[in-house]
Amino acid sequence: MIELDYGNISTEKVGSTHGLNLPQVFEDYRDQIRDIVSRIYAEKDQPGGWKRWLNLGYDQKLLDELNAYAQSVKGRFSDMVILGIGGSSLGGYAMLRALLHPYWNQLSDAQRNGFPRYYFVENVDSDQINPLMEMLDPERTLFVVISKSGTTAETMSAFMISKDWLEQKLPADQVKQHIVAITDAQKGVLRPVANQLQYQTFEVPDDVGGRFSVFCAVGLLPAVLCGVSLSEIQKGIQNLDKVLQNPDLQQNPAAQGALLQYLLYEQGKPISVFMPYSYRLASVSDWYVQLWAESLGKKHDLQGNVVHVGPTPVRAVGVTDQHSQVQLFNEGPFDKVFTFVSVGKPAQDIQIPANQFSDVEDLNYLNGKPMSQLMQAEFESTRASITNNQRPNMTLTLPQVDAYHVAQLLYLLEVQTAIAGALMGIDPFDQPGVELAKKYTYALMGRKGYEGLVSEARGQKNPIGV
Ligand code: PA5
Repeated sequence: MIELDYGNISTEKVGSTHGLNLPQVFEDYRDQIRDIVSRIYAEKDQPGGWKRWLNLGYDQKLLDELNAYAQSVKGRFSDMVILGIGGSSLGGYAMLRALLHPYWNQLSDAQRNGFPRYYFVENVDSDQINPLMEMLDPERTLFVVISKSGTTAETMSAFMISKDWLEQKLPADQVKQHIVAITDAQKGVLRPVANQLQYQTFEVPDDVGGRFSVFCAVGLLPAVLCGVSLSEIQKGIQNLDKVLQNPDLQQNPAAQGALLQYLLYEQGKPISVFMPYSYRLASVSDWYVQLWAESLGKKHDLQGNVVHVGPTPVRAVGVTDQHSQVQLFNEGPFDKVFTFVSVGKPAQDIQIPANQFSDVEDLNYLNGKPMSQLMQAEFESTRASITNNQRPNMTLTLPQVDAYHVAQLLYLLEVQTAIAGALMGIDPFDQPGVELAKKYTYALMGRKGYEGLVSEARGQKNPIGV
């Protein structure tokens, strides 16, 4: 099971100015947390409450459908292109980066066991799309277009380009076999288009928002198409969920993580650094950044008051960032709280040779040691330096990076976000700030019905150098 160690947030470890009196905090917030956790789970089926993502780990029907589709196309495609953005892309990418061979796309078909290479197109930059299309074989490429709203300009434009490309290269009756759509059951334009053109489709269920959608087809289809075991993912979620449903603050790591981060935010630490010590988990940092930022950065509270709240998440990766951001982390302003992620055992270890430079005394300490030992030493020493510099920090530990534990990591962070939103008194499931920019884009691109927003969207050109 994934574990949380929050000891380095205590006043004993980081001092009374920057730490928290943990026994006192746990006493003070016991009842509020009990209410919040009970309410969140009680509302998980409530229409319009946007908490149905809490049910995704139990959806056997979805697993059966996804497994059946994956089985039906096994060996058919050498390349899979995922078209989506934000919550419709980051979770799937984080899972594939974590669970597949780190150089998956460089492996041969046989080494990939017949599963496809994967590419995520999440930008509207032709410098990303054109070179990719030039590499692909249309006969052997599957496009998975993902959009909950079914209208997002970035995704729909990439979809239109991909469809056109297929139509130019394949017989008309074959195109539909190369496109899968994942979208809302009713809303948006993608659904009617996909139905009309007879694409294979999967649903983003009602009341599951983008950044909480990794455990529906949005994240699971790319995973199963590359051979990841969906039942391991669900098993991991279900076993952790027993713990996270517990409203007792002493027993619930998602509630602990949410509460401690919330209190440190209130205490003048608005920056939340997420730093996995794992190459495979590097993209979980990107997913966390979106989850934390889009969920908690809000103008209004639940009563409609203007509050302008929200911690700023920062992506970091250990050990790489030790030689980049850690100088700032250790000596800069006391405005950060850190979440480290440590991994018990790497999938593969490698030993530093014992016979290299044996006569160079300054390198002898490395001789014959496993790289995992160096990784662990660097993690522990960085964490110690951060703690000794009075910077509060927590550590999530995964025994290993596999489907079961990565699912637990993502699910814990989702529940933590929901609880943090409740503590902050805001709605963590909406994103009005994103919607406004989307509408401005429609206006600037000439979409019917948005003409009135054109001048507002253009803003004012600022003179340069005056
Ligand atoms: O988390 C969210 O809700 C957003 O990041 C969306 O996922 C993103 O805007 C893409 O939206 P859609 O899936 O509707 O295309």
